[in-house]
Amino acid sequence: MVSDTIQFIYNNRILKIKNPNPNQTILDFIRSDLKKTGTKEGCAEGGCGACTIVIGELKNQKLIYKSINSCISFLPIINGKHLILIENLNSDNKLHPIQEAMVKYHGSQCGFCTPGFVMSLFAMYKNFSKFNDEIIDETLSGNLCRCTGYRPIIDAAKSLNYKNNIDHFKKNEKQIIKLLKRIKDIDIEISYKDKKYFAPKTLSSLKKILKKNSNTKFLSGGTDLSLEVTKQRGDIKNMISLNSIKELQFIKKTKNFIEIGSGVSLYEFQNIIKSYYPDFYNILKRYGSVQIRNVGTLAGNIATASPIGDSLPLLLSLDSLLRIKTSKLIKTIPLNEFFLSYRKTKLKKGELLYSVQIPINRQSYFKAYKISKRFDDDISSVCASFNFSIKKNIILKANVAYGGMSEIPRRASTIEKALTNSTFSEDTFLKAQKLISKDFSPIDDMRASKNYREDVAKNLIMKFFYEVSSKENLGVS
Ligand SMILES: Cc1cc2nc3c(=O)[nH]c(=O)nc-3n(C[C@H](O)[C@H](O)[C@H](O)COP(=O)(O)OP(=O)(O)OC[C@H]3O[C@@H](n4cnc5c(N)ncnc54)[C@H](O)[C@@H]3O)c2cc1C
Ligand code: FES
Ligand code: FES
Repeated sequence: MVSDTIQFIYNNRILKIKNPNPNQTILDFIRSDLKKTGTKEGCAEGGCGACTIVIGELKNQKLIYKSINSCISFLPIINGKHLILIENLNSDNKLHPIQEAMVKYHGSQCGFCTPGFVMSLFAMYKNFSKFNDEIIDETLSGNLCRCTGYRPIIDAAKSLNYKNNIDHFKKNEKQIIKLLKRIKDIDIEISYKDKKYFAPKTLSSLKKILKKNSNTKFLSGGTDLSLEVTKQRGDIKNMISLNSIKELQFIKKTKNFIEIGSGVSLYEFQNIIKSYYPDFYNILKRYGSVQIRNVGTLAGNIATASPIGDSLPLLLSLDSLLRIKTSKLIKTIPLNEFFLSYRKTKLKKGELLYSVQIPINRQSYFKAYKISKRFDDDISSVCASFNFSIKKNIILKANVAYGGMSEIPRRASTIEKALTNSTFSEDTFLKAQKLISKDFSPIDDMRASKNYREDVAKNLIMKFFYEVSSKENLGVS
C-alpha cells in the first residue's frame, strides 16, 4: 500500500497533508502554515539552534524524543511522528517546568534563542532522569546565545534535577501512543508540481522505485542534502528518504566487528562505539550538535566524501569495510578504496550504502584528534586518527589517516611504511613526522592555511606518541 498523504500528531490530533512540497522545511511549515511563530530562524543551516523543535516517535513500543533543527528538515520526514513546538509546552495556563526554570534563573534576555534552548532542554528532560554537567553541555552544544550567556541557562538546567519530571506529555503518553499507532505504517509517494518524494518501508519497495526513477537523491538525515535548498536556494526534484527502511536500521555486534546499518543515527552510534573506541566517541560528541547527530548518519557522512568529514579518518584508520547495495546484491569493499576524488566515490547511480563494518581489536592503540576553531559544533581544520599494534616495543601495524589534508580523507602511506616494524620510540616518530609533505599537500582556505595544517598534522603524530608512551610506559627514550 502507498499513500500520498503524510500524517503526524500535533496538539493531540492527527494532522494530514496530501502531497506536501517535499522541499519545504518543517520550520517554514510551522511558521507559515501552522502560524506558530515561537520557533525562530537564525542561520537556516543547522548551526544556531534557534529553530529547535522536538519530534516524538515510537521505538520498541516506547516514546522517545529527539531535538532536531527544523530549518534543515524537510516536511515529509514528520510522517508518523509527534511534532512538539515551544507553543505546546505550557498547559492549563501554567508554564512547563523548563520554562519556569528559565524564568527563575534569568535564562533569557532578548529571547531570540530562548525557544530553541527550551526545546533542547525539553528533549533532555524527557530522555534523562538526572542532569549532570556532561549531559547539560552536550544538550546545549547546538544552541547559541549572544546576550544572556550560558551560566544562567546551565543553572536553570541544573535546577531541573530537583523537579518532579511528570508533565502533561507524561500524563498524555498513552493517548499519544494510541494516536501514533493509528497512523498506517506504509510507503509514502508524494508528487508536488515537478517534484517527487518517496519514503519506502522496505528494500524491495526501494528497488521498484529505483527502477522507474533512477535520477533521485537519497535522503538520510538531510544535514548535508537539505543545505542545497536552504543555503544554495536550489531545488531537489526527486528524493528517496531511506529513513523508514527498517532493514537499514540495525546494529550487529560480533567478536571481530560491529556493523552499523546506514539508517542508524550518529547519536545512536556514538553510544555504541563508546565501549569499543572511547576516542571515536569523544570525536562524535564534538560532531555538530545533538540536533545534528539525532538525524545525521554515518552513511551520510561517508557518502558526502567530504575531505573534512569527521568520522572518515577514524573509520579509515580502523580498516573499516563498506557494504554497498546494488540492484542485485550487497558487495563489500574497503573504505580505503571508496573515495576517488573531491566528493567523488565508487557509488554508482542507484547504489546505496547498506552498512559499515568496523573491526574490533581491543589490543590496538586507537586515538583520534579533531582540531577546530571552536570546541563544539564546528568543522575540523584537521582531523587525525591513529590505530597501532605494538608488541615488545616494535610497531607491527601503523594505520595513520587524516582529514583536512587533501581533497579526500586519506591514509598517510609513506608515514605508515616508515613506522611499520620500527621501534616505538621518540626518534622513530620525530623522523616519521618529517614525511608529512610526502603524503599530503594541503590547501589554504578560510579554515586554515597550508602551513598550519602541516604543522598541526606533524604535531598530532607526536601527540599520539607521547600519549601512548606515557600511558603504557612504552618507548620514551
Ligand atoms: C550544523 C552542522 C554541523 C555539522 N557538523 C559536522 C561535523 O562536526 N563533522 C562532520 O563531519 N560533518 C558535519 N556536518 C555535515 C553533515 O552532518 C554530515 O555530512 C552528515 O554525516 C551527513 O549525513 P546525513 O545522514 O545527514 O546525510 P544526508 O544529508 O541525508 O545525505 C548526504 C549525502 O549522502 C547521500 N546519502 C545519504 N545516505 C546515503 C546512503 N545510505 N547511501 C548512499 N548515499 C547516501 C545523500 O544522497 C547526499 O548526497 C554538519 C552539518 C551541519 C548542518
Ligand atoms: S535556524 Fe539556526 S539552526 Fe536552524
Ligand atoms: S537571549 Fe538573546 S540571543 Fe540568547
